[in-house]
Amino acid sequence: MGLEEISAQVKACEKCQLCKSRTNAVPGEGSPHAKIMLVGEAPGENEDLQGRPFVGRAGQLLNEMLAEIGLRRENVFITNIVKCRPPGNRDPLPEEKAICSPYLDMQIECIQPKIIVCLGRHSAEYLFTRYGIEFPGITLARGKPYKVDSLFGHFTLFPVYHPAATIYNQQLRPVLRADFQKLQKLVSNV
Ligand code: URA
Ligand code: SF4
Repeated sequence: MGLEEISAQVKACEKCQLCKSRTNAVPGEGSPHAKIMLVGEAPGENEDLQGRPFVGRAGQLLNEMLAEIGLRRENVFITNIVKCRPPGNRDPLPEEKAICSPYLDMQIECIQPKIIVCLGRHSAEYLFTRYGIEFPGITLARGKPYKVDSLFGHFTLFPVYHPAATIYNQQLRPVLRADFQKLQKLVSNV
């Protein structure tokens, strides 16, 4: 299945209760040939309204961080574990993650990226578990590359703090920025 087809399925999806409260599903966007994928948690209010990932305040920050290391959104692929907004921005429930994550798995298999940046704890926990790596928690894992051997070849998981976390806790901002500098080095080697 191609990326377009996956997007179409997501937009029409009614597999979990989040379909009832969403305005728009948010399949994700970017280059089908991206070497780098960035995976967040779930759409927020702005994302739900526009049907696009990371377009609110966290998205602005993400754009800045990407620009600082010479990346453009058009050259990466940005998506989330869960494709519809949980009401009131609550955390997605375990069953919502379980039901929705096959879309992410298919997107990854389609794009076959060299690096997957896990934006925040939820994303990192899901992707580590999915690829058989024990997740030591975001504080320990962040800023370190983890090699994965998958059916389509090797890639690297690179967890960082969620950009939104650095809005609530400004002290995390320089940590996120430094991790993006490390990401730049990883990117230059793939
Ligand atoms: N936070 C996320 O995790 N994903 C988005 O798309 C926007 C904010
Ligand atoms: Fe379907 Fe995922 Fe949206 Fe649930 S969150 S309705 S599984 S696309």
